Amino acid sequence: MDISIIGSGYVGLCTAVGFASLGHKVICVDVEKEKVDKINHGVPTIYEDGLEARLKAAVEAKQITATTDTDYAVKNSEISFIAVGTPSKDDGSIDLTYVKKVSRELGKALRNKDGYHVIAVKSTVVPGTTDDIVIPELERHSGKKAGEFGVCMVPEFLREGKALHDFLNPDRIVIGELDKKSGDIAEKIHEKLKTPILRKNIKTAEMIKYASNTFLAAKISLINEIGNICKKLGIDVYDVAEAVGYDRRIGKLFLEAGIGFGGSCFRKDISALLKKADQLGCEPKLIKAMLDTNKGQPLKIIELLEKKTNVKGKKIAVLGLSFKAGTDDVRDSPAAVIIKELTDKGAFISAYDPNAVENMRKRFPGITYADIGECLDNADACLILTDWDEFRQLEDRDFDKMRNRIILEGRRVLGRNKVRGFEGVAW
Ligand code: UGA
Repeated sequence: MDISIIGSGYVGLCTAVGFASLGHKVICVDVEKEKVDKINHGVPTIYEDGLEARLKAAVEAKQITATTDTDYAVKNSEISFIAVGTPSKDDGSIDLTYVKKVSRELGKALRNKDGYHVIAVKSTVVPGTTDDIVIPELERHSGKKAGEFGVCMVPEFLREGKALHDFLNPDRIVIGELDKKSGDIAEKIHEKLKTPILRKNIKTAEMIKYASNTFLAAKISLINEIGNICKKLGIDVYDVAEAVGYDRRIGKLFLEAGIGFGGSCFRKDISALLKKADQLGCEPKLIKAMLDTNKGQPLKIIELLEKKTNVKGKKIAVLGLSFKAGTDDVRDSPAAVIIKELTDKGAFISAYDPNAVENMRKRFPGITYADIGECLDNADACLILTDWDEFRQLEDRDFDKMRNRIILEGRRVLGRNKVRGFEGVAW
């Protein structure tokens, strides 16, 4: 089928390449000419494992093209996805500016198209957004009634760093549909994926995305709180999590304790859900507490460090800057909170990351960026903050150059018996 995707950021581009891998023809749309040119040359606009090769192949096979022209994209496809960002406003509520703008443009494009066309929302939007904002904009600018064109909400469940794998191996596809006709088309483009397809109404699909991220974040905050107690008791929380995870009602995944979750999604989405709940007169105490717990978690490693040394004037090696391994993304990275706190306290940071240095440099231009050896050389302490595989290879002698052998992990990385004298934030 012919698909267009409006917004060529992280979700848009990965979804485009995913659909191309299923044999569809995809038109990517973006307002930024530079991004469009890059995509047309097979160059990804973001770093994502495996994306470059697949994008290149899809562009060469003419399965993916990019344009700034929404009208053209709608005319030459049967379904258009809205995949633009939904950032947080200062008060935590969702900023729907881009969704609204794209809905308006799609409405205008629908006015100029004769045949049936489906608009599918892929952006994460709070329940009610498609019905209350997207559809009215589409109707106003197309001069048509929803039903004359199709509408769906198809949330994404892609992890950064594993997005293509997740696209091609989903646990499920959720389709929120205006009517059967729209849902059938959305289902058809996914038919090669052998996975359960759950067809719901639009509002329910929107909520499923928030509920999924909230559950995942809850598991992390809960294991972190258990970990904080374990730490005081001298218990390894990973031993606890291993056994707890055997209970199938709980499950083994997302029980890794540490300095808390980061990234562009969990905090943003949970804050937006809390704001929506507030407007509805609900007070979800547990969900609010999860965010509070997570906010405190990066500071735990500084508490631990300060029990061992005064940080003022000390050289602290920080290994790992991205919010997790496999990405260059530093949005909401716990490393940023830790670097800010340590520099405020007068420490000198020497930082290394396999991928995220350039992004972190924009936030902290004044700290030193170096390779692992230089970071550790004469360091008074070393903090490991991202679980990159590269750090798992570190050996005991790699830390010999430190002035003080204080090694603290914010993520479980170092093998237990290989490196002497390291300690974890919650183990
Ligand atoms: C998350 C969800 O996992 C995706 O399903 C969802 O589609 C995406 O948000 C989104 O809403 O777009 P992502 O933010 O890429 O994906 O990253 P995760 O792999 O979920 O990790 C999030 C954070 O939790 C990272 O900082 C990670 O280090 C941390 N984490 C994860 C833990 O601290 N412990 C764990 O056990 C697992």
